[in-house]
Amino acid sequence: MRSLARFAEMKRHGEKIAMLTAYDAPQARAQQQAGIDVILVGDSVGVNILGYASEREVTLADMAHHTRAVRRGAPDTFVIADMPFATYDSPEQAVASAKFLQQAGADAVKFEGAHPELVQVLATAGVPVCGHLGYEPQHCERRVHGKTFEEAAKIFADAKALDAAGVFMLVIELAPAELAAAVTRAIKAATIGIGAGPHNDGQVLVFPDVLGYAEKNFRHNRRYAEVGATMRTAAAAYLLDVKAKDFPTMANCSAMPAEVFAQFEAEFMEKHG
Ligand code: KIV
Repeated sequence: MRSLARFAEMKRHGEKIAMLTAYDAPQARAQQQAGIDVILVGDSVGVNILGYASEREVTLADMAHHTRAVRRGAPDTFVIADMPFATYDSPEQAVASAKFLQQAGADAVKFEGAHPELVQVLATAGVPVCGHLGYEPQHCERRVHGKTFEEAAKIFADAKALDAAGVFMLVIELAPAELAAAVTRAIKAATIGIGAGPHNDGQVLVFPDVLGYAEKNFRHNRRYAEVGATMRTAAAAYLLDVKAKDFPTMANCSAMPAEVFAQFEAEFMEKHG
């Protein structure tokens, strides 16, 4: 369902929101079929799919390309697309970037950090915004954020400011569970945790982490499959079959009718073979 109002409703009723990242049409199709509430085309596409060293290398063109694929795979699911690094440095740039992602099929955009002024500008331009606080991969080091009094107070104040500006959702990444719980109680927007404990309005995980084919396995993750091992096993078995001339067999291809082949050999190969 592609309705914004549904997330506020779910928060009100205490129904947890299940979000996953997806980067291509088959992933998105599987998630829509499973009934996932919201798909995030995260800039984690850079490290997980495109082989980049960091989220900072992801471009707006990358995000639009993957958002289009996800939309084709999941036409009926709410899709949020990440605004890449350095694509929301001014209100004008933020609106242009967000509109580009909307045209690619996003229902809403997400960006990192405390920029309530951008949330308002985007709302006026008709783009719903999901905020992102705590660990911000585009902007800070990977660790739990909000363990000190000062950091916790800042994250809490930033969450309130984003909420007042009108975000409909807020991702809280790698933050103490108590802080995420306090933010969840204090704001209208639905909170979505990742490594931020069980007391958010919903959870998000990165799909390659869930499927078990990401390079690392993080403490915040739960693996629901071992797709990495399955991929390696399948590639190795295919390799053996090709080398052993066990693949393909005639069951994997088609034959010519015998009389056509006889004519082909006699009339064509005779001259051209
Ligand atoms: O890019 C991403 O996948 C994200 C999630 C980790 C929230 O921002």
